[in-house]
Amino acid sequence: MSEAGRLRDQALAAIARASTEPDLEAVEVEYLGRREGKISRQLLSGIAKLAPEQRAALGQEANEARRAVEAALEARRAEQKAAQLADIAQTEAIDVTFPAPPLPRGHIHVLSQVRHELEVIFARIGYTVEEGPEIETDWYNFEALNLPKGHASRDVQETFFLDEAEEVVLRTHTSPVQIRAMQRIGTPPIYIIAPGRVYRRDNLDATHLPYFMQLEGLAIDEGLTVGDLKGTLLYMTQSLFGQERQVRMRPHHFGYTEPSYEFDTMCGRCLGKGCRSCGGAGWLETGGCGMVHPQVLRNGGIDPDRYSGYAWGFGIERMALLKYDVEDLRLFYENDIRFNRQF
Ligand code: DAH
Repeated sequence: MSEAGRLRDQALAAIARASTEPDLEAVEVEYLGRREGKISRQLLSGIAKLAPEQRAALGQEANEARRAVEAALEARRAEQKAAQLADIAQTEAIDVTFPAPPLPRGHIHVLSQVRHELEVIFARIGYTVEEGPEIETDWYNFEALNLPKGHASRDVQETFFLDEAEEVVLRTHTSPVQIRAMQRIGTPPIYIIAPGRVYRRDNLDATHLPYFMQLEGLAIDEGLTVGDLKGTLLYMTQSLFGQERQVRMRPHHFGYTEPSYEFDTMCGRCLGKGCRSCGGAGWLETGGCGMVHPQVLRNGGIDPDRYSGYAWGFGIERMALLKYDVEDLRLFYENDIRFNRQF
């Protein structure tokens, strides 16, 4: 056997004995090391002593020996790797039936909850949910609601205008959805609610927000009266707060209703007697309402001689506040999960 063949067999035997990666590395260095490796050195020193025509044969033998050792190293390493994995599978097997730790979860916001509760309450008596854009034209937000330009009740100060001509606004209330609903639905009966975001140029503090949520309601049918309006508000209040809670209506003025009222919810602490939480009044201001003005019906394309309607609007934050005794409106928008989780 050639010297190269003998070295190769030695190396293969050493590889077969090696049981760890360091053992294998030692064999690799011993035989294949670039300068000092036995096979490499045998090649270098051997070649120098040979006649030119014999050099090719020796080179080939040495190369074959090198390739055989390399292949054996690779095979042995693969074996070891497989053994290692089998070991891990044994000792670190995953129990797929083990219960996972709970994931941190969000929470439905209290305003979304109250809004949803109101939607369900009104769905039970046949109201559907209507939506309108938060960016409105002057006509829908004011003009069509009997609030002409220059009218005191427009309260220009509180409006966010989006253009120089002041024709495009962020809606200041959900009332423009009344007009859109009349136009979309056309012929009464119309029974809709329109919850949504509104905007006003108010500075943020405990009792003011530059944007908040309102819920508008509109009913148009033949022969509707103030009695129907009151019954609807009472139904809503008792559904939301309990049977003992009454509703009170006080005369007021809105351009789009005639007659107009503000409505109050009976204080839940004192049930109308007057206590500290209601400032002694026994009642808590809740929203506005009234019988839809004939001109507003006309603006929505509805014949006021045949149909009458009632409407109302209130702040959803205010409702949540009445329900949960929250002291500061800003808490609704800070999105502190510790606050949100309480509801
Ligand atoms: N739009 C009024 C507001 O923002 C609330 C309101 C009052 C809505 C009377 C109505 C209504 O539909 O009839 O304060």
